[in-house]
Amino acid sequence: MKIKDFAGKTAYISGGSSGIGLACAEMLAARGADVLIMARRLGQLETAIKQIEAKRISEKQRFTSVQVDVSDREQVADSLARAVKEFAPPDILINSAGVSFPQKFEDIPFEKYDEIMRVNLYGTWNTISNLLPYLKQSHGYIVNVSSVAGYIGVFGMTAYSASKFAVIGFSEALRSEMKRFDVTVSVLCPPDVDTPMLERAGKIKPEETKAISATAKVMTAGEVARAVLEGMGKGNFMILPGSGTRFTYNMKRLFPWLVESITDRRISKFQKKAA
Ligand SMILES: NC(=O)c1ccc[n+]([C@@H]2O[C@H](COP(=O)([O-])OP(=O)(O)OC[C@H]3O[C@@H](n4cnc5c(N)ncnc54)[C@H](OP(=O)(O)O)[C@@H]3O)[C@@H](O)[C@H]2O)c1
Repeated sequence: MKIKDFAGKTAYISGGSSGIGLACAEMLAARGADVLIMARRLGQLETAIKQIEAKRISEKQRFTSVQVDVSDREQVADSLARAVKEFAPPDILINSAGVSFPQKFEDIPFEKYDEIMRVNLYGTWNTISNLLPYLKQSHGYIVNVSSVAGYIGVFGMTAYSASKFAVIGFSEALRSEMKRFDVTVSVLCPPDVDTPMLERAGKIKPEETKAISATAKVMTAGEVARAVLEGMGKGNFMILPGSGTRFTYNMKRLFPWLVESITDRRISKFQKKAA
């Protein structure tokens, strides 16, 4: 089901305490939705709830937070069962919780690879598997957050790209299965977005990774949230915020060899200069 009117809808947002998830929560609050956010850090959840509250347009709207690690299957099952009972069942689920560790493959310890897969991929599985019965009842909407690195294997992102490619494959299969239940599934693929994640990544990213995206526009979380809400209004599977992202997506689909050779050239130019 396409959603154009968000008033009275209940949205669950993992990673709703920061960045893209928080921007979606604020925008949904500003359109009259009830919002539940999930994340691990309590202080951050409390601050986010105040920001979301400030966007309300009706006294009737309700907002709450759930402290949960989405990679922990039992924790997710317990806390979401409680949330459905005490708050409300969801009409919308946005899976924005995510982590990254941009480093060359040989510098990524197994534990980091494991964490990235558990949060970005298994976390998505965990929330959906617990909320799907309710989303089927409400003919709801699921938005899984992938990345441009979910359709282009990016230098320095072996672990992250693996998790985000998997999110797209998972979402594509789920979309097909959910069609007959009128549950819509979209996948969001943002470019670089100005959030705490990007700031942390900037401190450890290999120089080659920086060189690849040096000319790309960095979007704001608000711009991405607007694309998410517009995307839900259209019901398209792929939500590609920004014209640059749509261009890159089509180039990769139609001319993968060209994308490869452009990025290879940028990387080798940097490596020659640094040698
Ligand atoms: N920023 C970008 O450039 C960019 C580009 C493409 C895609 N994305 C994707 O967009 C999504 C949001 O990223 P962002 O940039 O908004 O990052 P962010 O500002 O760091 O926010 C990440 C959110 O996820 C939560 N989170 C992380 N691990 C969690 C866990 N195990 N359980 C529950 N919550 C968890 C964080 O809260 P706690 O730490 O308190 O748990 C926080 O609320 C991610 O999936 C990311 O991969 C980001």
